[in-house]
Amino acid sequence: MAIRVLPDAAAVAKYAADLICAAVAAKPRANLGLPTGGTPIPLYEELNLRAAGGACDPSAVLVYAIDEFCDARRTTPGTNTQFYREHIRFRTRALYCPNPSATEPDLHIRAYAEAIRRGGSLDLCVLGIGQTGHIAFNEPGSARDSPARVIELTATSRQAHAASFGGIEGVPTHGMTLGIADLLESTTIIVLATGGHKADIIRSAIEGPIRPETPASWLQEHPSVTWLLDAAAAQALTI
Ligand code: GLP
Repeated sequence: MAIRVLPDAAAVAKYAADLICAAVAAKPRANLGLPTGGTPIPLYEELNLRAAGGACDPSAVLVYAIDEFCDARRTTPGTNTQFYREHIRFRTRALYCPNPSATEPDLHIRAYAEAIRRGGSLDLCVLGIGQTGHIAFNEPGSARDSPARVIELTATSRQAHAASFGGIEGVPTHGMTLGIADLLESTTIIVLATGGHKADIIRSAIEGPIRPETPASWLQEHPSVTWLLDAAAAQALTI
């Protein structure tokens, strides 16, 4: 795995945008998995600017959300559907997101993952990392072969989304996620982490044992992962 430590969140966004734009230039019809969360927002701002200025042309890519909440409407503020609408303003061939109001979410997310596989899987998957070590919504306890599924969200993860749902009681209790197995099928993976509050989990994910309790540690088994960290998120690393 490659680890790049950059001075701050703005530098992480620019470096990630460089990698994504290079991947899209090499394969204009690439399948991209893109995350939600606060961490990638500067990246999306950078990509919006570069696409508007003609420095990057993602207009032929297919973008896939990697997770979504259950039991919400597509119009509910705080859903990933709304997040992508708000932050991804560059033109793409299509942007797919699981339907948060699917009546059979388990079937729905399995069909969603199957459609990605039939389309050749993800060429490039960008991930954030939750404070529980989750990637997409694969919470602690997620095995290496965990499939796309409905998962109960931890209190920590629900708390992290409280503000965007108008309080913790508004945050859905469950999410739908691509599984660890689906994410590891991506050809290339980029993980973004910024801020000192991620330092301990970054160390566990990169240097700790590979185990279900730290879902991001499964990334150690992938042949092409680049970690893009700011100095604060990297401060606990010893390697
Ligand atoms: C959410 C998403 C993840 C994301 C994580 C980190 O729960 N499901 O895909 O990586 O939170 O979010 P943040 O970047 O805000 O720390």
